[in-house]
Amino acid sequence: MAKYELGETLFTTEEISVRVRELGREISRDYDGQEILLVGILKGAFVFLADLARCLTTPVRFDFISCSSYGSSTKTSGVIRFQKDLDTDISGRHVLIVEDIIDTGLTLSYLLRNLEARKPATLEICSLLNKKHVDGKIDLPIKYEGFAIVDVFVVGYGLDYDERYRNLPYIARLKK
Ligand code: IMP
Repeated sequence: MAKYELGETLFTTEEISVRVRELGREISRDYDGQEILLVGILKGAFVFLADLARCLTTPVRFDFISCSSYGSSTKTSGVIRFQKDLDTDISGRHVLIVEDIIDTGLTLSYLLRNLEARKPATLEICSLLNKKHVDGKIDLPIKYEGFAIVDVFVVGYGLDYDERYRNLPYIARLKK
């Protein structure tokens, strides 16, 4: 198995914090006081979700879903595993999916189809990172995007490699 180590910092704590506050303002303005059901995708989105939620001025509820296409490698397996469903009935609610990173878009396209079938009032996506230039990327309606990045593997601020590095307060590249 290849050995990986932490590479250069892509987004500092300060840069992330500024962008998360901007997203919070934009989302609060768009929803204009309507209650949002924030659906965090476990595990990676937990840090972003916690910070974003505290920048929202609209009423919010929380739920979590666990759905992953990765094992311990840095490339998608193409297979979605659905490990935990929502606790909430989302019909008629304003649902905002909060994701850490979109790579191929496979996870979210699967989730969107699944959640749309439950008839929410609205269903939008907020992803902190979006990898551009990924081969075979699925086109998704991403309403809120923190940062666009090139196709490199990153860790920190909730993102892991084999369950490590999630607690880094910044986002760094993982290098071989
Ligand atoms: P997708 O289904 O290919 O879009 O992959 C999305 C999921 O893969 C994310 O929720 C992450 O869990 C994981 N992932 C994709 N790229 C990275 C990365 O660079 N670092 C850590 N996890 C990643």
